[in-house]
Amino acid sequence: MSIEPSVLVVQLREQLNDWSYRYYILNDSAVPDAEYDRVFRLLQSLENEHPHLISQESPTQRVGAFPLDQFSQVSHEVPMLSLDNAFSDEELMAFDRRLRDRLSIGEASVGYVAEPKLDGLAVSLVYENGLLVRGATRGDGQTGEDITENVRTIRSIPLRLRVENPPSLVEVRGEVVLPHVGFNALNTRQLEAGLKPFANPRNAAAGSLRQLDSKVTAQRPLDFYGYSIARLEGADMPACHSDMLALMSTLGIRVSPEIRQCIGVEGLLAFYHDILGRRADLGYDIDGVVYKVDRFDWQEALGFVSRAPRWAIAHKFPAQEEITRLLDVEWQVGRTGAITPVARLEPVQVGGVVVSNATLHNVDEIARLDLRIGDSVIIYRAGDVIPKVVGVIAERRPDGAERIVTPQTCPVCGSEVFRAEGEVIARCTGGLICAAQQKEAIKHFASRRAMDVDGLGDKIVEVLVDKNLISTVADLFALQAEQIAELERMGEKSAAKLVAALAESRGTTLPRFLFALGIREVGEATALALSKFFGGLEAVMAADEELLQRVPDVGPIVASRIRHFFQQQHNLDVIRSLRDAGVHWQEFDPSDAAGEQPLDGETWVLTGSMNILSRDQAKAYLIDLGAKVAGSVSAKTTVVVAGEKAGSKLDKAEKLSIPVIDEAEFIARLQALGVSVKEA
Ligand code: IVH
Repeated sequence: MSIEPSVLVVQLREQLNDWSYRYYILNDSAVPDAEYDRVFRLLQSLENEHPHLISQESPTQRVGAFPLDQFSQVSHEVPMLSLDNAFSDEELMAFDRRLRDRLSIGEASVGYVAEPKLDGLAVSLVYENGLLVRGATRGDGQTGEDITENVRTIRSIPLRLRVENPPSLVEVRGEVVLPHVGFNALNTRQLEAGLKPFANPRNAAAGSLRQLDSKVTAQRPLDFYGYSIARLEGADMPACHSDMLALMSTLGIRVSPEIRQCIGVEGLLAFYHDILGRRADLGYDIDGVVYKVDRFDWQEALGFVSRAPRWAIAHKFPAQEEITRLLDVEWQVGRTGAITPVARLEPVQVGGVVVSNATLHNVDEIARLDLRIGDSVIIYRAGDVIPKVVGVIAERRPDGAERIVTPQTCPVCGSEVFRAEGEVIARCTGGLICAAQQKEAIKHFASRRAMDVDGLGDKIVEVLVDKNLISTVADLFALQAEQIAELERMGEKSAAKLVAALAESRGTTLPRFLFALGIREVGEATALALSKFFGGLEAVMAADEELLQRVPDVGPIVASRIRHFFQQQHNLDVIRSLRDAGVHWQEFDPSDAAGEQPLDGETWVLTGSMNILSRDQAKAYLIDLGAKVAGSVSAKTTVVVAGEKAGSKLDKAEKLSIPVIDEAEFIARLQALGVSVKEA
C-alpha cells in the first residue's frame, strides 16, 4: 500500500528540515547534496500535484514570493536598542567599574558573556507556536519593516522551531550577515553584469534584505546568528543570558560558536585580543565584540540610559574602512590583456594592515565614483577581500583635481585598447606581442600550481622579458646559466639552480600542463576534468566544441575558448617547442581515468601556518592526487592538516571528530603516495 501524499509530504519536509538544520546550524552534513536535492525535488513535485498540501514551513517555500510594492511597517513590542561603545581598554575598565559601583559588589568580579559584534543587520524573528510568522528590520528601534518573505529565504533561519512543544511565542533577535565568500562572489557577478559593486558586506546584506522581490534575496547567501530572546510566552525565561543562548540553541536557532562566558575585565580583554587576532579568518565581518552582564537580575538592576542598556557595551575593533588620498591611477595589463585601473594611495592603516594600492575594478567604476587624482577616498579592506576604493569624499576635493583618462592604447605595448560592445572590460589587442601579457603568461606558467618552477619568481620573469631573453614560455627552456648569471642580483650559483629547476619541471602532469598554458576560463578544475575526459593532449587539441562540452562543467563559452586557443598557430608553435624541449607527462587511456587518483573523492582542509610547504604547494599536491581542497570544515571533510596557530577550524574538526594531522605527518603521507615533496 502506498503512503498517502499528505503523510509523505510531512515526512519529506521533516527529513529535509532535519538535514538543513544539521547542515546550516550544526555545520555537519548528514547526506550528500545530491540526496538532499533528490528528496527536495520529490517534495516539490508532490506539492505541485497537490497544491493544497503546500505549507509555509516547507523548505520548498524558501525560494522567494511575489514581489511587493512596498514593505509594511511593524512596531516592535520590545524596542530594539543600540549599544554604547568602548574604543579603548581604559573605557572598558571604566564601564566595569561603573557597573560594580552601581551593583555595590565592591571588588568582586562580574560574570559576563562576550560575543562577536557581527557587522550586518539586526532583525527580529517572531515564532508563534513554533512557526516563523514574521521577520522585521530594526528601523528606528520602535518601528521597522516587515521583511518576512525575505528572511524566509535565509537557510540558517528555521521556518519552524525544532522542539516537540514549542513556546506559544518566541521573539528572537539577531544579526543577518553576508560572509566574505558570498560577498566576493556577489560583487564579481555585479561587475560582470555591468552593475555597481557593493562597498562592503554590510551594505550588500542590507541591500539584499531590503529587496521588495524576495526572489532576489533568495539568490544572496545570507547567514543569521541569534543573540537574544526579546519575548517568550508559554515557557520560563532563564535566569541569565548564557542560559538564554543555550535555550535558543535548543530551539534550533543558530548562535555564534565564538561566544564565551568571561569573568571580570581580564577575561573580557583576553576574549577581545583572541578574536581580534582571528578576525580575518572568521569568514565574515565583525566590527568589535559585545560584553553583556550574564545575570538577568543584575541586568534589571542596572537598567537603561536613553536607548542603550547599562549592562552591555560594544568594544570596537580598528575600522575596516579608512580615508586616504588617491595619488595616482595606474593601468595594469593582465594575462588576458584585461586593463584594470589600480589606485595608488597614500599609505594608510586599514584593519591593522598598511594599504597603498586598491582595486578600482574597471573603467565604469571610476566614472561611477566620479574619481579624480588627489581626491580623499574611502578604502575598505577585510580578511579575504581585496582592498578596494568604495567612495569619494566630494567635499574634500582639492582645486584642480585631475580627471582620470582611460588609455586608448596599451600602457605597455602601445597596441590599441578595445572594449567590446556591452563588455565592462577594456583589453589590449596586442596579444603575445605585449610584454605585460608575455610576463603574466610566463609567471602563470611557472607558478606553483602550474609547472612549479622553483626559483622562477615574478621579478626574474620581468627582468628576463625586459632584457629580451625570453618572450614565450618555450624560451624558458633554452635559457643558459651564463645568461641568467649576468642579471642583476643573480650569481652563478642561483643561475645554475634555476636552470636545474627548469629542467626538473619538464616532468609534469597533463592537468598541470593544461592549466599552465593559461587558456582563458581554464582553471585547475577544468584542466583536471579535460585530462580525465581525454587522457592525452592530442585529443584535447583535436576536440571540437561539441565534444568539449561533454566534459563535466565545460559549457559553450569555455569550449569556444579552448577551441580558439588551439586554433592559433602561435600557441601550437609554443606547444611544439615545449615538447621539443622535453616537457612531458604521463598520458593514459581515458576509459580507466576514473578512480585513477589515490585521493579521489576526498575533501581536505588546510589550516594554520606551515613551515616546510607553502599553502599553494600543499593545495597543488592534494589536487594532483585527486582530492578537493575546501576552505571550511564540515562533516564531509576527510582530513584536516593543521599547521601552527590553527584556530577555529581545528576546534571544529575536533568537535566533528575529523582526523587531524600536522605538517610532518602530511608530508609523510604525500611521500607515501609517491610525491617528491619540495621545500617552499
Ligand atoms: S545586543 C540591548 N549583541 O549591534 C542590546 N547586538 O549597536 C542590543 N550587534 O543593533 C543588541 N552583534 O545590530 C547585540 N552579539 C550582539 C551583536 C549586536 C551585532 C549589532 C546589532 C545592534 C547593534 C547595537
